[in-house]
Amino acid sequence: MGALDGKVAFVSGAARGQGRAHAVRMAEEGADIIGFDLCDQLQTVVYEMARPEDLEETARLVEATGRQMVAGRADVRDPSSVQEIFEQGLGELGRVDIVVANAGIFAGLGDAGRSPAAWQDSIDVLLSGVYHTCEVAIPTLIEQGDGGSIIITSSTAGLGGLYADRNATSGGIIGYVAAKHGVVGLMRVYATSLASHRIRANTIHPTGVDTPMVNNSEFARFFQEFPNAFDTTRNLLPIPWVEPVDIANAAVFLASDAARYITGVTLPVDAGFSTI
Ligand SMILES: NC(=O)c1ccc[n+]([C@@H]2O[C@H](COP(=O)([O-])OP(=O)(O)OC[C@H]3O[C@@H](n4cnc5c(N)ncnc54)[C@H](O)[C@@H]3O)[C@@H](O)[C@H]2O)c1
Repeated sequence: MGALDGKVAFVSGAARGQGRAHAVRMAEEGADIIGFDLCDQLQTVVYEMARPEDLEETARLVEATGRQMVAGRADVRDPSSVQEIFEQGLGELGRVDIVVANAGIFAGLGDAGRSPAAWQDSIDVLLSGVYHTCEVAIPTLIEQGDGGSIIITSSTAGLGGLYADRNATSGGIIGYVAAKHGVVGLMRVYATSLASHRIRANTIHPTGVDTPMVNNSEFARFFQEFPNAFDTTRNLLPIPWVEPVDIANAAVFLASDAARYITGVTLPVDAGFSTI
């Protein structure tokens, strides 16, 4: 028996990284998946973003567990595209129980990260995009009457300022930190306003996770240029970063009945980073 048997999870940014891990781990626990991703490049992002074949690979991995995945391209900045893939998934899978608002960018690097568009893209994807993803699913969660679990991926950058060197802070980085704090507010208003429907809402705050967002040459160059940008040695446990599955395991727990009375929580999965 899986922890999520009979449930359906709606996952944004499902093509790779943590989004893929959420889709696969939840499928391993018995959930079917509605997963979507932009699968395209934003001009303010200097590392390579996901491609359509990445999303196909996630669907293949989910189906290898024996579960179904409705996968499609949609942009969290565009609520109508999110609505479209959600409705397709609902049509094929019949319900939704879990929302994982995970899609994200780090538009803080290089000249592109210093452009005015980098602030705007960060807010649009990381704050408005989370709002759109949740809002699309909430009416169905309420209508079903079976409760639900909303899980929003924030960051250690949603619990503190982190960047100690003004020279290292671009508009994209400031937008990232502001949006990752902003989703805590979103989570809290969902936790309070949806509690009577037994719909829970929580944020997860990862330290560095080994995904293409941070494990890339542009990020390495950033740390070479700004060694004091922030303290990368703050993980108390002796590891440089955690794995996507570590975040997915926390999301499975929050989505499961084992967490049925956990709501309104900002859960660090950060190897102790936020303790000091
Ligand atoms: N990697 C880290 O160190 C780290 C740490 C803390 C928090 N996070 C957060 O974790 C989440 C997942 O990131 P990841 O580490 O897996 O990075 P990733 O780049 O591997 O995955 C992010 C996914 O989101 C998708 N995406 C981006 N913009 C989108 C849009 N407009 N619409 C739909 N999909 C879009 C990308 O195509 C990509 O597949 C993000 O919210 C990120 O900010 C990451």
